Amino acid sequence: MKALLLAGGLGTRLRPLTENLPKPMAPVGNRPWLEHLLLHLKREGIDEFVIAVKHYPEIIQNHLGDGSRFGVQIEYAIEQSLLGTAGAIKNAESLLSDRFLVVNADIIHEVSILPLVEYHIQHKGLVTIGLTEVEDPSHYGVVQQTDNGEIVRFVEKPKQDEAPSRRINAGIYVMEKEALQWIPKNKAVSIEKETFPLLIEKNVGVFGKIINGYWMDMGTNERYRKVHWDLLDRKCSFPLKEKEQGNGIWVGKDVQIGSGVLFLPPVLIGDQVHIGERSVIGPYAVIGDGCTIGKHVRCSETILWDDCKVHDSAQLSNCIFGYDLELGASHILYQAVMNRTAGVLQG
Ligand code: GTP
Repeated sequence: MKALLLAGGLGTRLRPLTENLPKPMAPVGNRPWLEHLLLHLKREGIDEFVIAVKHYPEIIQNHLGDGSRFGVQIEYAIEQSLLGTAGAIKNAESLLSDRFLVVNADIIHEVSILPLVEYHIQHKGLVTIGLTEVEDPSHYGVVQQTDNGEIVRFVEKPKQDEAPSRRINAGIYVMEKEALQWIPKNKAVSIEKETFPLLIEKNVGVFGKIINGYWMDMGTNERYRKVHWDLLDRKCSFPLKEKEQGNGIWVGKDVQIGSGVLFLPPVLIGDQVHIGERSVIGPYAVIGDGCTIGKHVRCSETILWDDCKVHDSAQLSNCIFGYDLELGASHILYQAVMNRTAGVLQG
């Protein structure tokens, strides 16, 4: 069974970080999320992939290539214009197997795929939607199901006391190719808002099953941070290339640490990082490969992508820095999200 990864969206809610980067290529624990995703699905037994791309496709293609570096096969379905989550699946139709998995590539998860596929085979419908339960369903499309799991309707953004359940679409589906006959070609179509409701109306069998394992949509800056803190707290267990020193501190290769540096766990330090004397790093800091941190710097609840420079006595709290950014000596930044070409967003 092939997996189709939807990776073409603009990622507007994660700007400015996604101004010049496909959202699924944003690093999670110092490694592009798409790489973690491929390797997770490979561990789940999938080794043939189609990636649906549009926003900066060359960044994904240059990094993942034909997949051989990761021991998998990758083909690309490229869109000329944004086709939406269903239009992108239709555009990839000729590359897909009769039954296939679809994954929103911006969902950080460690979901077991086999139970979804087994359930799908058993109910004989055209679609199985992986569902996750949320505390407050009022921001989501919530499903109403029969006792045997068939979805009878989606209720968009229900008031809390009117929600038929707390189960929402987790962005992971098993589908039969037959279902694609209901999606028009070369047209922007949303699977959540248009295709699934249509398939329910046509009574072709749209079922839902609760997924197990860690799940988080990284679509906003706040949730992107949360994914990292969960990773450091080992609420999710993606393999990290850095070595854990046994106390919530992970350190990469060729790292130079000045005298008197204090790590307040949890902390993740990438490869070839230099940290000047008496800096205090953490709690909750992720420092990308090739970063240089000056002396007496304070850095907490912050994520720095690769090759950033933070000069002496600067202070960073609750920030996200894109690749290759520099913070001047003694500067203080709180809750800033920055990207080199796309400027600064405070808050
Ligand atoms: P926002 O602009 O912040 O809503 O982000 P998004 O549109 O990139 O992501 P959204 O959560 O809406 O979409 C879920 C997944 O589908 C993401 O992995 C997107 O990359 C992907 N996606 C969304 N629209 C398209 C599209 O038109 N084409 C392709 N190929 N993928 C898409």
